[in-house]
Amino acid sequence: MSQTLIKNIGLLVTNNSEVDGSPLGLINNAGLLIEHGKVKWIGASESAPSAEKTIDASGKCVIPGFVDSHNHLIFAGDRSKEFSARMAGQKYEAGGIAYTVDLTRKASDGDLLSNAQRLQHEALHSGSTTIEIKSGYGLTVKDEARSLAVAKQLTEETTFLGAHVVPNEYKGKSDDYVDLVCGGMLTEAKAHAKWIDVFCDRGAFTTEQARKVLKAGIAQGLLPRLHANQLEQGDGIALGVELDAASVDHVSHFNNSDIEKLANSKTVATLLPGAEFSTRSSYPDARKLLDAGITVALAADCNPGSSYTTNMSLMIALAVREMFMSPEQALWSATKGGAQALRRSEVGHLSVGANADFVILKESSYIHLAYRPGVNLIDEVWQHGAKI
Ligand code: NIG
Ligand code: FE
Repeated sequence: MSQTLIKNIGLLVTNNSEVDGSPLGLINNAGLLIEHGKVKWIGASESAPSAEKTIDASGKCVIPGFVDSHNHLIFAGDRSKEFSARMAGQKYEAGGIAYTVDLTRKASDGDLLSNAQRLQHEALHSGSTTIEIKSGYGLTVKDEARSLAVAKQLTEETTFLGAHVVPNEYKGKSDDYVDLVCGGMLTEAKAHAKWIDVFCDRGAFTTEQARKVLKAGIAQGLLPRLHANQLEQGDGIALGVELDAASVDHVSHFNNSDIEKLANSKTVATLLPGAEFSTRSSYPDARKLLDAGITVALAADCNPGSSYTTNMSLMIALAVREMFMSPEQALWSATKGGAQALRRSEVGHLSVGANADFVILKESSYIHLAYRPGVNLIDEVWQHGAKI
């Protein structure tokens, strides 16, 4: 029986509130026993059972691996010039996606895979042990299906986002494009996807179109989530709640009615501070959501347009500094919050039976993730009980 014990953990974050009555479920001077890729035992280091292999964490902090529930990794090229123009004052618009769509259509499957693998590797080595990946830069039946086939090689959390933007060849005929998404495109995409998503916003799809897309996906066995209210206040959040979406993402704009609806639902609000950072937009105030009892997740939203980063530590730092989350709330949202946004129960926490996916930090506290922004604090990443 292969067992590994991590001993002398200065501070273990379990995200199991039964441990100490707080959401992070903290244990000082802890031990963590791994068996067959799962957490077998947690408790005080000095009372840990013996194991074939022992690792000394030397007083460092151990946290659950980040669960990054929102990414667009299947694309070709980059948009550094667009970023530069934006920093010089140009506004971010949904239309920029078309540039990446052109390059993605021209790229081979191999090129798409190696670019996504590069980003997945980057994410994993920065502590993200579970990631979601969307399609959305193909926007033809063939290119969406192959984007998802590539994504499926990298994660089980794959999302069909054929309704990312109306492609140029359908300009002025968005309803026809929605029919394609709900018809032939969905038929080809569904074998490779768990989720269905839609960009419901100014310059992308209307609430009615979004409802149609999500309902078509649900009818074919996919689970709904959506991009809502990134660019302006709209009905995207209400739609997400109406359809029991696992998550509404961005929510950069929301009103009291949105708060009330989310608070009475199981839908998670996923905040993407990398997008506000890279589009120089106002950050939403997470306290308004948290104070209402809404479950909040944090994700990197890695994509070549609005947030070209895989770094969840940066999201935590931004959420604390710019969205007024406490370091505790931000860490929880980047781990267990992400797991809830993906409706996963075996990741995002380190209770007995959970996946042994965790990060040993270089510091003795998770607070340093926000306190030392931009510094690589990831010492070791463990996934399914093995050090990567
Ligand atoms: O989540 N908002 C829509 N989709 C992406 C941006 C895509 C792009 O600009 O290429 C996002 O931010
Ligand atoms: Fe996105």
